[in-house]
Amino acid sequence: MNFSRTLWASVAIISACASLATAADEPFKAEITARKAVMQVSKFNIGMLAAMVKGKAPYDVETAQNAAYNLHLAALMKNGPMWPKGSGLDNPELVDKTAAKPEIWSTFPKVSEKHKVWTESTEALTKVAGNGLAELKTALGSVGKSCKGCHDDFRKKKK
Ligand code: HEC
Repeated sequence: MNFSRTLWASVAIISACASLATAADEPFKAEITARKAVMQVSKFNIGMLAAMVKGKAPYDVETAQNAAYNLHLAALMKNGPMWPKGSGLDNPELVDKTAAKPEIWSTFPKVSEKHKVWTESTEALTKVAGNGLAELKTALGSVGKSCKGCHDDFRKKKK
């Protein structure tokens, strides 16, 4: 009984140390994970809409409106704290952890202009996503361009 309690207490302490060590080894881990998650949420929702436009999924008014809404919400989040200076590719410790180019910070506020286009295009999408495939397609095209517009300048290309 006592032995087992002591054992589990030690395991807990060892695990706590292990997670502290990981946090120290990987700077900005939480921030990078969070901002990638926002991007993945965007990808998921734009993917549903793209499937409808391509005829791979049936067009459904409510599903389209909801996905458009989610895309807009992702753009609206006040995510400054997920993008601290030094958490980009200028940090040698992060070369395998992030695709965020140093220009995000060195040319600031250019990235905010890209963010504005993203916010505006997703807002426009929410207004027409329920109006049928033709309107959805046009508005979705603008959203896709807003993603690409930022990625071209501020995200390192995949090899
Ligand atoms: C204002 C700039 C900006 C806009 C707009 C933007 N992104 Fe990104 N995105 C980035 C940056 C920078 C990264 C790299 C983040 C990192 O690796 O730390 C990224 C990464 C990603 C990733 C990879 C995430 C991962 O898990 O590594 C996906 C997917 C993505 N974006 C999708 C989108 C989609 C879809 C849109 C539009 C609906 C969009 N992004 C709009 C800047 C932007």
